Amino acid sequence: MTDQITTVGVIGCGTMGSGIAEVCARAGYTVVVREIDGDAIEAGLARIRQSMDRAVDKGKLEAGDRDTAFGRIKGTTSYDDFKTCDVVIEAVPEKLDAKQELFRSLDSLLPPHAILATNTSSLPVIEMAVQTGRPSRVVGLHFFNPAPVMGLVELVKTVVTDGDVLDMSKNFAGTLGKTPVVCGDRAGFIANLLLFPYLNNAAKMVESGFATREDIDAAMQFGCGHPMGPLALLDLIGLDSTFEILDAMYRQFRETVYAPAPLIRQFVTAGFLGRKTARGFYPYEESGSPRVKESGHHGRELPAGAGSHIRKIGVLGSGTMANGIAEVAAKAGYQVVLRARSKQRTSESQAKIAKSLGKAVERGKMTQEQLDATLGLVETTTEMNAFSDCDLIIEGIAEELDIKVEHFRQLDAIAPEHAIIASTTSSLPVVALAAATNRPEQVVGMHFFNPAQVMKLVEVVRTVRTSEETVDAVFAAGKKMGKHCVVCPDRAGFIVNALLFPYLNDAVKMLESGYATAEDIDSAMKLGCGHPMGPFALLDIVGLDVSLQIINSLYEEFREPGYAAAPLLEHLVHAGYLGRKSGRGFFTY
Ligand SMILES: NC(=O)c1ccc[n+]([C@@H]2O[C@H](COP(=O)([O-])OP(=O)(O)OC[C@H]3O[C@@H](n4cnc5c(N)ncnc54)[C@H](O)[C@@H]3O)[C@@H](O)[C@H]2O)c1
Repeated sequence: MTDQITTVGVIGCGTMGSGIAEVCARAGYTVVVREIDGDAIEAGLARIRQSMDRAVDKGKLEAGDRDTAFGRIKGTTSYDDFKTCDVVIEAVPEKLDAKQELFRSLDSLLPPHAILATNTSSLPVIEMAVQTGRPSRVVGLHFFNPAPVMGLVELVKTVVTDGDVLDMSKNFAGTLGKTPVVCGDRAGFIANLLLFPYLNNAAKMVESGFATREDIDAAMQFGCGHPMGPLALLDLIGLDSTFEILDAMYRQFRETVYAPAPLIRQFVTAGFLGRKTARGFYPYEESGSPRVKESGHHGRELPAGAGSHIRKIGVLGSGTMANGIAEVAAKAGYQVVLRARSKQRTSESQAKIAKSLGKAVERGKMTQEQLDATLGLVETTTEMNAFSDCDLIIEGIAEELDIKVEHFRQLDAIAPEHAIIASTTSSLPVVALAAATNRPEQVVGMHFFNPAQVMKLVEVVRTVRTSEETVDAVFAAGKKMGKHCVVCPDRAGFIVNALLFPYLNDAVKMLESGYATAEDIDSAMKLGCGHPMGPFALLDIVGLDVSLQIINSLYEEFREPGYAAAPLLEHLVHAGYLGRKSGRGFFTY
C-alpha cells in the first residue's frame, strides 16, 4: 500500500521537521518542506545538510547517497508545493491553535487521498482531526529526537482513524526504518508520559541546588546506562517544547509531577531554549552545536594528598555488593579485609571473588599473576576486631536500619580514630548511622551500583554532619577504584533512585491503566529514548520487592501523591511475583 506514497510534505523545518525531512528523503521519498520565511528555510536545509554530513563522517551514509537524498528535498515557503503530497507531517511549535489553523488550510489544499499527520508530543490528535473534512485520515506520527537516529515512531490513532489509514501509516513508518508502536490519543502517549516527569524532576533537582547539572547527568549515564543525562537531553529537546509538553500533560492529568519546574519557564523567558539557542542548562559553542562550551567544571577539585592515608579498606558484609566492593578495592591495590557472619560465608565470599576475577582473566582483562596478587590482598574473617587497623570501612549488610545502626555502633568502638565509616545503603538516612557513632563527621554514604565490578557510578552521600575532608578522601578512594563519583545530600533516593523509581512506578501505572502492554512500553523506552532496557525488564531484574520498598521510601520522604506505589506493583509482590529471582514478575522466565 505504501507504494501509493511517493511525495511527503513536512511543515516546519526546526529541530524535528528537519530530522523528519531527512529520514523521509533518505528512505527514497520526494520531500517538500515548508518554513515561515526564506531565512528559516535556509537554516533548516543547512541543519539537514549538517546532519547528513555527520552521518557520512560516522560511516553511516555514503557521500553519493547523501547527495541523492539531499537532492530529493525541496525547501519552500509556499503551500502550493503540497498539492501533490500523499502524506503531510506537521512539526510546527507545540501550540494547539496554530496546529488547528494549519490543519484547516492543509485540508483545503491536499488531494483527497492524502494522510495528514501531526508530530505533536502532547496535544490531542482528535482536536486537529476534527478541523478537517477528512478526520478519518488524520493520525499522529510521533518521531523521537534526533529523528534520523531514534528507532521509534508512536503511531497515534484517534477514535475516528480509519483502519486502512492506520495500516498505511504503519507501513510508511516501516519504510522509514522505524518501529511503529500504536497508541491511543492521550497526552504524552507512551514514551513522553514516562519521560517528561523524569526530566522535570531532574530540572527541579538542579533548581533546588540538590546536585550539579554535571553530577545529575553523569549519575544517570553511569548509574543507568542512559545515552545521555536528563539535563543534556532537555537541552536537545528544547526547553520551549518541554514547557509546552509538560504544561499540556498537566492540563490533562492535573498532577503536580507534570507541572513544569519554574526554572524551565525562566529559561524559556530568557531565551535559553537549549542547543538551538546555544544556551540552556549548559552553554554550547554555537547554536545547534552539541559541543558544550568549556565550563571550567571538571568535577570535584580534590586537595593534594586527599585520601592518601587510606591503605586498608574493611568491608562489612558478604552479600552481592560487599563481595563486589571488596574485589574492586583489591583490584585498585588496597589491602582488604572482608568480615562475614560465619566461616561458611567467608569461604563463599572468597570463592565468589576468585570466580569473578577468574572471568576477568578468561576475558583477557587481567593476567593470572595479577589475579594472584589481587586475591592476596583480600583477607576474610568473622571477627569485627579485624577492622581495628582499617582506614576506611564500607558497610554493605542488610537494608534494615536497626541492624545497620547496631553495626555502626560496634564499628565506631573498634575502628581507629581517624577511620572513615561508609554505608552502601540505597534508601536509609545516612545521618541516622552517623548519629550512632562518636565520629559523625567521618560517616558518609558510598552508594555503589550493582554489579559493583561493572557499574562506574558511586554516589557519595554527605549528611549535614559529614566533613569536607571525609568527602574528599572518599572521592579519592572511589577514583582510585576507577569509579565516577558524584556528591549529593542525604535525601531518600539520592540522585539516581529519586529519578529512576518514580519513572518505573509510572510505567506500572500506565500498564495498570490498560493504555499499553509491558512489551510496547519497554520497546517505546528502548527505541524512543535509547535506554538499555525498558522499565519492566529493569523492574524484574531489580526485584519487585526491592523496587516497592524504594518507591515507598521516596513517598515517605516527599509525600508527593504521584509517588504513591502503583497498586499492581504491591499486588505482584504480595503474590510472590518478585521478578527474575522468583521466575516471574512482569514477565515470566
Ligand atoms: N523537540 C523534540 O525533541 C520533539 C520530539 C518529538 C516531537 N516534537 C514535537 O514536534 C513539533 C515541533 O517541535 P520542534 O522541537 O521541532 O520545534 P522547533 O521550534 O525547533 O521548530 C518548529 C519550526 O516550525 C516553524 N514554523 C512555525 N509555523 C510554521 C508554519 N506555519 N509553516 C512552516 N513552518 C512553521 C518554526 O519557524 C520553527 O522553525 C512540536 O509539536 C513538538 O512537540 C518535538
